[in-house]
Amino acid sequence: MSKNIIITGGAGFIGSHVVRLFVNQYPEYTIINLDALTYAGNLENLKDVQDKPNYVFEKADIRDAEAIDALFAKYKPFGVIHLAAESHVDRSISNPTEFVMTNVVGTVNLLNAFRAHGDMKEGRFYHVSTDEVYGTLGDDGKFTENTPYSPNSPYSASKAASDHFVRAYHETYHMPMVLSNCSNNYGSHHFPEKLIPLMINNIRNNKPLPVYGKGDNVRDWLYVVDHARAIDAIFHRGKNGHTYNIGGNNEWKNIDLVKALCAIMDRKIGRPQGESEKLITYVTDRAGHDYRYAIDASKLMNELGWEPSVAFDEGFEKTIDWYLNNQEWLDHVTSGAYQGYYKDMYASR
Ligand code: NAD
Ligand code: DAU
Repeated sequence: MSKNIIITGGAGFIGSHVVRLFVNQYPEYTIINLDALTYAGNLENLKDVQDKPNYVFEKADIRDAEAIDALFAKYKPFGVIHLAAESHVDRSISNPTEFVMTNVVGTVNLLNAFRAHGDMKEGRFYHVSTDEVYGTLGDDGKFTENTPYSPNSPYSASKAASDHFVRAYHETYHMPMVLSNCSNNYGSHHFPEKLIPLMINNIRNNKPLPVYGKGDNVRDWLYVVDHARAIDAIFHRGKNGHTYNIGGNNEWKNIDLVKALCAIMDRKIGRPQGESEKLITYVTDRAGHDYRYAIDASKLMNELGWEPSVAFDEGFEKTIDWYLNNQEWLDHVTSGAYQGYYKDMYASR
């Protein structure tokens, strides 16, 4: 009999890449994509797998304990890969409660449902988390799995709380679990509220490029497909109860990344070199803006043999090409509610 794996948030950016990998590589599993289809979820992201026999979509909200319990009773999952979340730091600053409801209460609802109906012996609950739970770094050092939690934004505080609940269910109820904390992802299907797709969208529309503060904050960028490959390795081979850091060993200051993007976009859309850079506009900084993230992923590399498969130059070009070849996707997701969001977030900065 095939094993049921519930992937939450499978219609989102990273989730759609994880669903694609699991549906294509594991015909022996039935993959249930459980997603509420918020502004960030889009079934267009999964057009290439939607007709596969081992793929099922269930529209459900993880905040709704009863609905989640009923779905888990129906599928009796072998495993859960939990990605559904409110994921944007700026939105968490405007509306922290929404982040508590989805990221904390939603996660606890899933844990309760897995405890009641999931395979508590052979299966596992995988929580996909973020490096932001560790807080911020100065110019040196990297986050390891032993770095104490010190979240600074309502988003990272909610993810830290949900990490703690997953570990608490392991200790208290012996729930089999693994957890990973990953750095910034980039790639196709990334919602254009996040730095890279927002800048691509603004460059093509000749709009200002809003760089927060002085642009000297540092992020460690990983190609999203390599995150999905790490999730595959950890889900199947990670040690029960363990945490793994995932990162690209690829640090960029925001301003350098935006300038590199401008240069590639100028080349690809036939603008004179230096033209898009003129759109860069320094705006009011994000409140509580973490200065630097950097990940030590040696545990994952040494124990499970994972390493990034796509060099940044290659992944970055591929990503830009995807947005230029899928401008309808960008137009679709930036019509409607996005306009109001953009005005609220940037008009008075
Ligand atoms: P995203 O915002 O693109 O997608 C989130 C998905 O969750 C969407 O499909 C949305 O519809 C769904 N969702 C939201 N609220 C829901 C609810 N109440 N019930 C059911 N579904 C709901 O997010 P992402 O960037 O793909 O991130 C996925 C996960 O990975 C998150 O848990 C995030 O914290 C984590 N993460 C993201 C990054 C990154 O760089 N994007 C890095 C590390 C970890
Ligand atoms: O580190 C992992 C995290 O990466 C994930 O957990 C989050 O879900 C994900 O959104 C991402 O968080 P960041 O806050 O780092 O990503 P974002 O794309 O929002 O911002 C990246 C950097 O760019 C950050 O320093 C803020 C800056 N920025 C962002 C936007 C949207 C700007 O300068 N201008 C902008 O308009």
